[in-house]
Amino acid sequence: ARHFSRTSWESTEDVDLDSVAYGFMASQALFAGLELGIFDHIAKAGEKGLNVEGIWKASGIEAHRTTTLLTSLTAVKCLRRSSDGFYTLSPNTAQYMVTSSRHFYGDYLQYQIGRQFYQRMGALPDVMKTGTAPSYASWFSDPETAKTYTTAQHNGSMATAKYLVRKKLQLGGIGDMLDVGGGSGAFSYVFTEATPGLKSTVLELPEVCRTGEGIKETMSKDVQERVKFLELDATSPDWPVNESAFDVVLM
Ligand SMILES: C[S@@+](CC[C@H](N)C(=O)[O-])C[C@H]1O[C@@H](n2cnc3c(N)ncnc32)[C@H](O)[C@@H]1O
Repeated sequence: ARHFSRTSWESTEDVDLDSVAYGFMASQALFAGLELGIFDHIAKAGEKGLNVEGIWKASGIEAHRTTTLLTSLTAVKCLRRSSDGFYTLSPNTAQYMVTSSRHFYGDYLQYQIGRQFYQRMGALPDVMKTGTAPSYASWFSDPETAKTYTTAQHNGSMATAKYLVRKKLQLGGIGDMLDVGGGSGAFSYVFTEATPGLKSTVLELPEVCRTGEGIKETMSKDVQERVKFLELDATSPDWPVNESAFDVVLM
């Protein structure tokens, strides 16, 4: 009989095959919870939470289907269910998946990961076999796709950029920044706001520039004047700028 060596593997180091294999179903339960506003409804109800009836009335989703989704969300620990049938949010769900929370990034998960990447990942085996995958440039030639992706990225990137400025980076003494693939321009807005005199050039695919320019209009006048978008496909050899003219290049 052939023996496979298992001696160097602690049981905790081994892959949990079922979690990996079925994880995509848990992902969809989370995205559905976000899309139906379940976490917001429960948050609004306060400490006691909501029972199934309260949730289906608030979400407008039929009672049996609501119960099934709530059971899934409880199994994956997004929700907790009390013995008298009231659902409350787990601490992480309350902090990150409720729209009124300062740390909310559910829009990124719902739209970019749930609606866009989720679908595309099904092609992975074929991409591996053929080596052919659609490029960002072709994907984002559709204005709606580029807008959904970029808008969903924005809040999370603003939060990360603010965290970097507060805790990790000292940006003083730099005058020009190049933000390659800068999306909505989130890092550029936060970095220029925090650094007097800093200017930033965001290089992006054309349809992403259009969305970014719209988001830029919501920033302060001063930031708007110091951030500009330039169209670029980074895979093309012709770049519209000379990178050596910048003090910082962000990718
Ligand atoms: C994960 S997003 C990050 C966006 C931004 N840096 C941020 O952190 O918010 C990656 C970005 O790279 C851009 N990108 C991908 N391929 C590109 C290409 N060939 N030329 C220019 N930008 C590209 C996408 O449009 C997208 O906005």
